[in-house]
Amino acid sequence: MFAILSDIHSNLEALTAVLEDIEKRGIKTIYCLGDVIGYGANPKECLDLIIEKASWCVLGNHDYAVFYEPTNFNYGAEQASFWTREVLEAELRRDLSDRRWRFLGELPMRWSLDADMGNSKAIMEFVHASPRRPINEYIFPDDVYTNPAKVRLLFERVNHICFVGHTHMPGVFLDEPDFYLPSELDGVYPIRDDEKAIINIGSVGQPRDKDNRASYVYVNKNNVHFVRVKYDFQTTMKKISAVDRLDNFHAERLRDGR
Ligand SMILES: [Fe+2]
Repeated sequence: MFAILSDIHSNLEALTAVLEDIEKRGIKTIYCLGDVIGYGANPKECLDLIIEKASWCVLGNHDYAVFYEPTNFNYGAEQASFWTREVLEAELRRDLSDRRWRFLGELPMRWSLDADMGNSKAIMEFVHASPRRPINEYIFPDDVYTNPAKVRLLFERVNHICFVGHTHMPGVFLDEPDFYLPSELDGVYPIRDDEKAIINIGSVGQPRDKDNRASYVYVNKNNVHFVRVKYDFQTTMKKISAVDRLDNFHAERLRDGR
């Protein structure tokens, strides 16, 4: 059994609530699909928690933005990444600073593993965004209707199961192509030997599917469980509003889940 988190975006309250939920379920193994930082007010705290709790993490576009440079960011997101970099650079403790920068600088673009499903094995791949452009390509639910050729091409790069984040919208893509919201699956996707799936696990720290609760998944045998966790988003909003350099939109969207 393991949990997968993505798109924490420096939201300490959401991350803490999700980690508590994971612990309550007795899950000991945590993987992370990137975007630990960016947008929110607690980059150091979120990095430290992920470094401590996650077995591994792949590179997200916002992690890339802070360590290297922002690419294709809107003004607000770019400002947030410059501010985040300054916060990390201002750390006075050399050991903490080194550990955070080393973590960001060593994040891999992809990860894979063969998972035991009980009677069979599943080949699992993990990227932040998409199997062909691992840190920057968005796979939107609408692509299934507006750009089915794109989704089919993406599936050519998938062996079996590919976990992604990036859009902050949880759900399951099949290669028809088709898209299913977690609610249409009663919150559980059963992995099958003969079915490829791209599974978006949603966002811990900035959900955009009109549900403001933190999103993550855990995998138990062959079942992928979609979970939502309430957290104190008002505290997170206040912290963002208190930082001049962070656009207030990043606070408001937490309340609305957009
Ligand atoms: Fe993100």
